[in-house]
Amino acid sequence: MAQALVCGPGTLQRLSGVVRDLGLHHVLLVADAGIRAAGYVDAASRILTDAGIAVAHFDQFGENPTSDMIEAGRAHAAPLGVDGIIGLGGGSSLDCAKGINFVLSNGGTMADYRGYGKATRALLPMVGIPTTAGTGSEAQSYAIISDPHTHEKMACGDPGAAFRAVILDPVLTATQPAPVTAAAGYDALSHAVETWVTRVRNPVSDLFAREAWTKLSGNYERVLSHPSDLAAREAMLLGAHLAGAAIERSMLGATHACANALTAHRGTIHGVAIAILLRHVVRWNGGRDVAVAARYAQLDADLAGRLGALAAAGGFPAGVAATGATRDAMDVLTAIASRQWTGTFNPVPFGADAAREIFDAAWVAA
Ligand SMILES: [Fe+2]
Repeated sequence: MAQALVCGPGTLQRLSGVVRDLGLHHVLLVADAGIRAAGYVDAASRILTDAGIAVAHFDQFGENPTSDMIEAGRAHAAPLGVDGIIGLGGGSSLDCAKGINFVLSNGGTMADYRGYGKATRALLPMVGIPTTAGTGSEAQSYAIISDPHTHEKMACGDPGAAFRAVILDPVLTATQPAPVTAAAGYDALSHAVETWVTRVRNPVSDLFAREAWTKLSGNYERVLSHPSDLAAREAMLLGAHLAGAAIERSMLGATHACANALTAHRGTIHGVAIAILLRHVVRWNGGRDVAVAARYAQLDADLAGRLGALAAAGGFPAGVAATGATRDAMDVLTAIASRQWTGTFNPVPFGADAAREIFDAAWVAA
């Protein structure tokens, strides 16, 4: 986790102090065009320049940043001599900041860093400022970068890719469109649920996962019905952060393996794919391992039912078929799902046959 965590409404104003504490003087601010349009790039830049900190910007990337976008960021930043990086935005901005850091400080391309600990030189200190309560990327030392040709996601991790400082300001999440709040929040919920049962979970990841579930499940419906409730927004932001910290220690599971396949094949938004699949994975895992079923029951006596109610509140499509996927794509979907690293951490052994059963159950499910 970050060494410094600043949390609460209006805490973006503390950015210059946070950057100064890290000893930085010239930072690259990585934030996508939507974040700029929302006014947050200008706000953050003003706070920094007022404190005498020089700022360069990079916004040439989109959802699911690719290694080509990372290279564009590196080429932009290399002549500037920045001494730190700020990621401001959703998971894409935070992943993009980490990705640029890898190739800017260590050379090569993103594929060189697939896996963990491949960097040989120190990475630049980074500050993470999430504007969605979702991925919890700001609590993780992995950048998720897509291959521009296959659209598959590469997980590139390193201790130096962890944000040194994180600012959780719920005001930044209050203006996002309702579908973004719904999809990102459900993704965070899934992180709490999947980390709670993985093969490699431990007492510390359990602490994070449990607290994340409490915060997220207790506030999800509230932020959808009352979008300006900053206390609920803060609970979601902190819950997503804690779930991200749980991922860092215990990885994810079959829901993310299947969802990644749906996103690669259909371009389905990550949180939407997750919302379609999560309760079916809970039923599938729980039906095959009584110990896992007992773990799920500690979160909720009827966890799959509760997840169905939360998905209904989010207004998601009920089944895989609604994404436009057709049954003849099943072999493609299951093949991609079975290749996902995240599936190896599922508490029940997961492969193409398991993916087929899960997709079948979720195809036109209620
Ligand atoms: Fe996720």
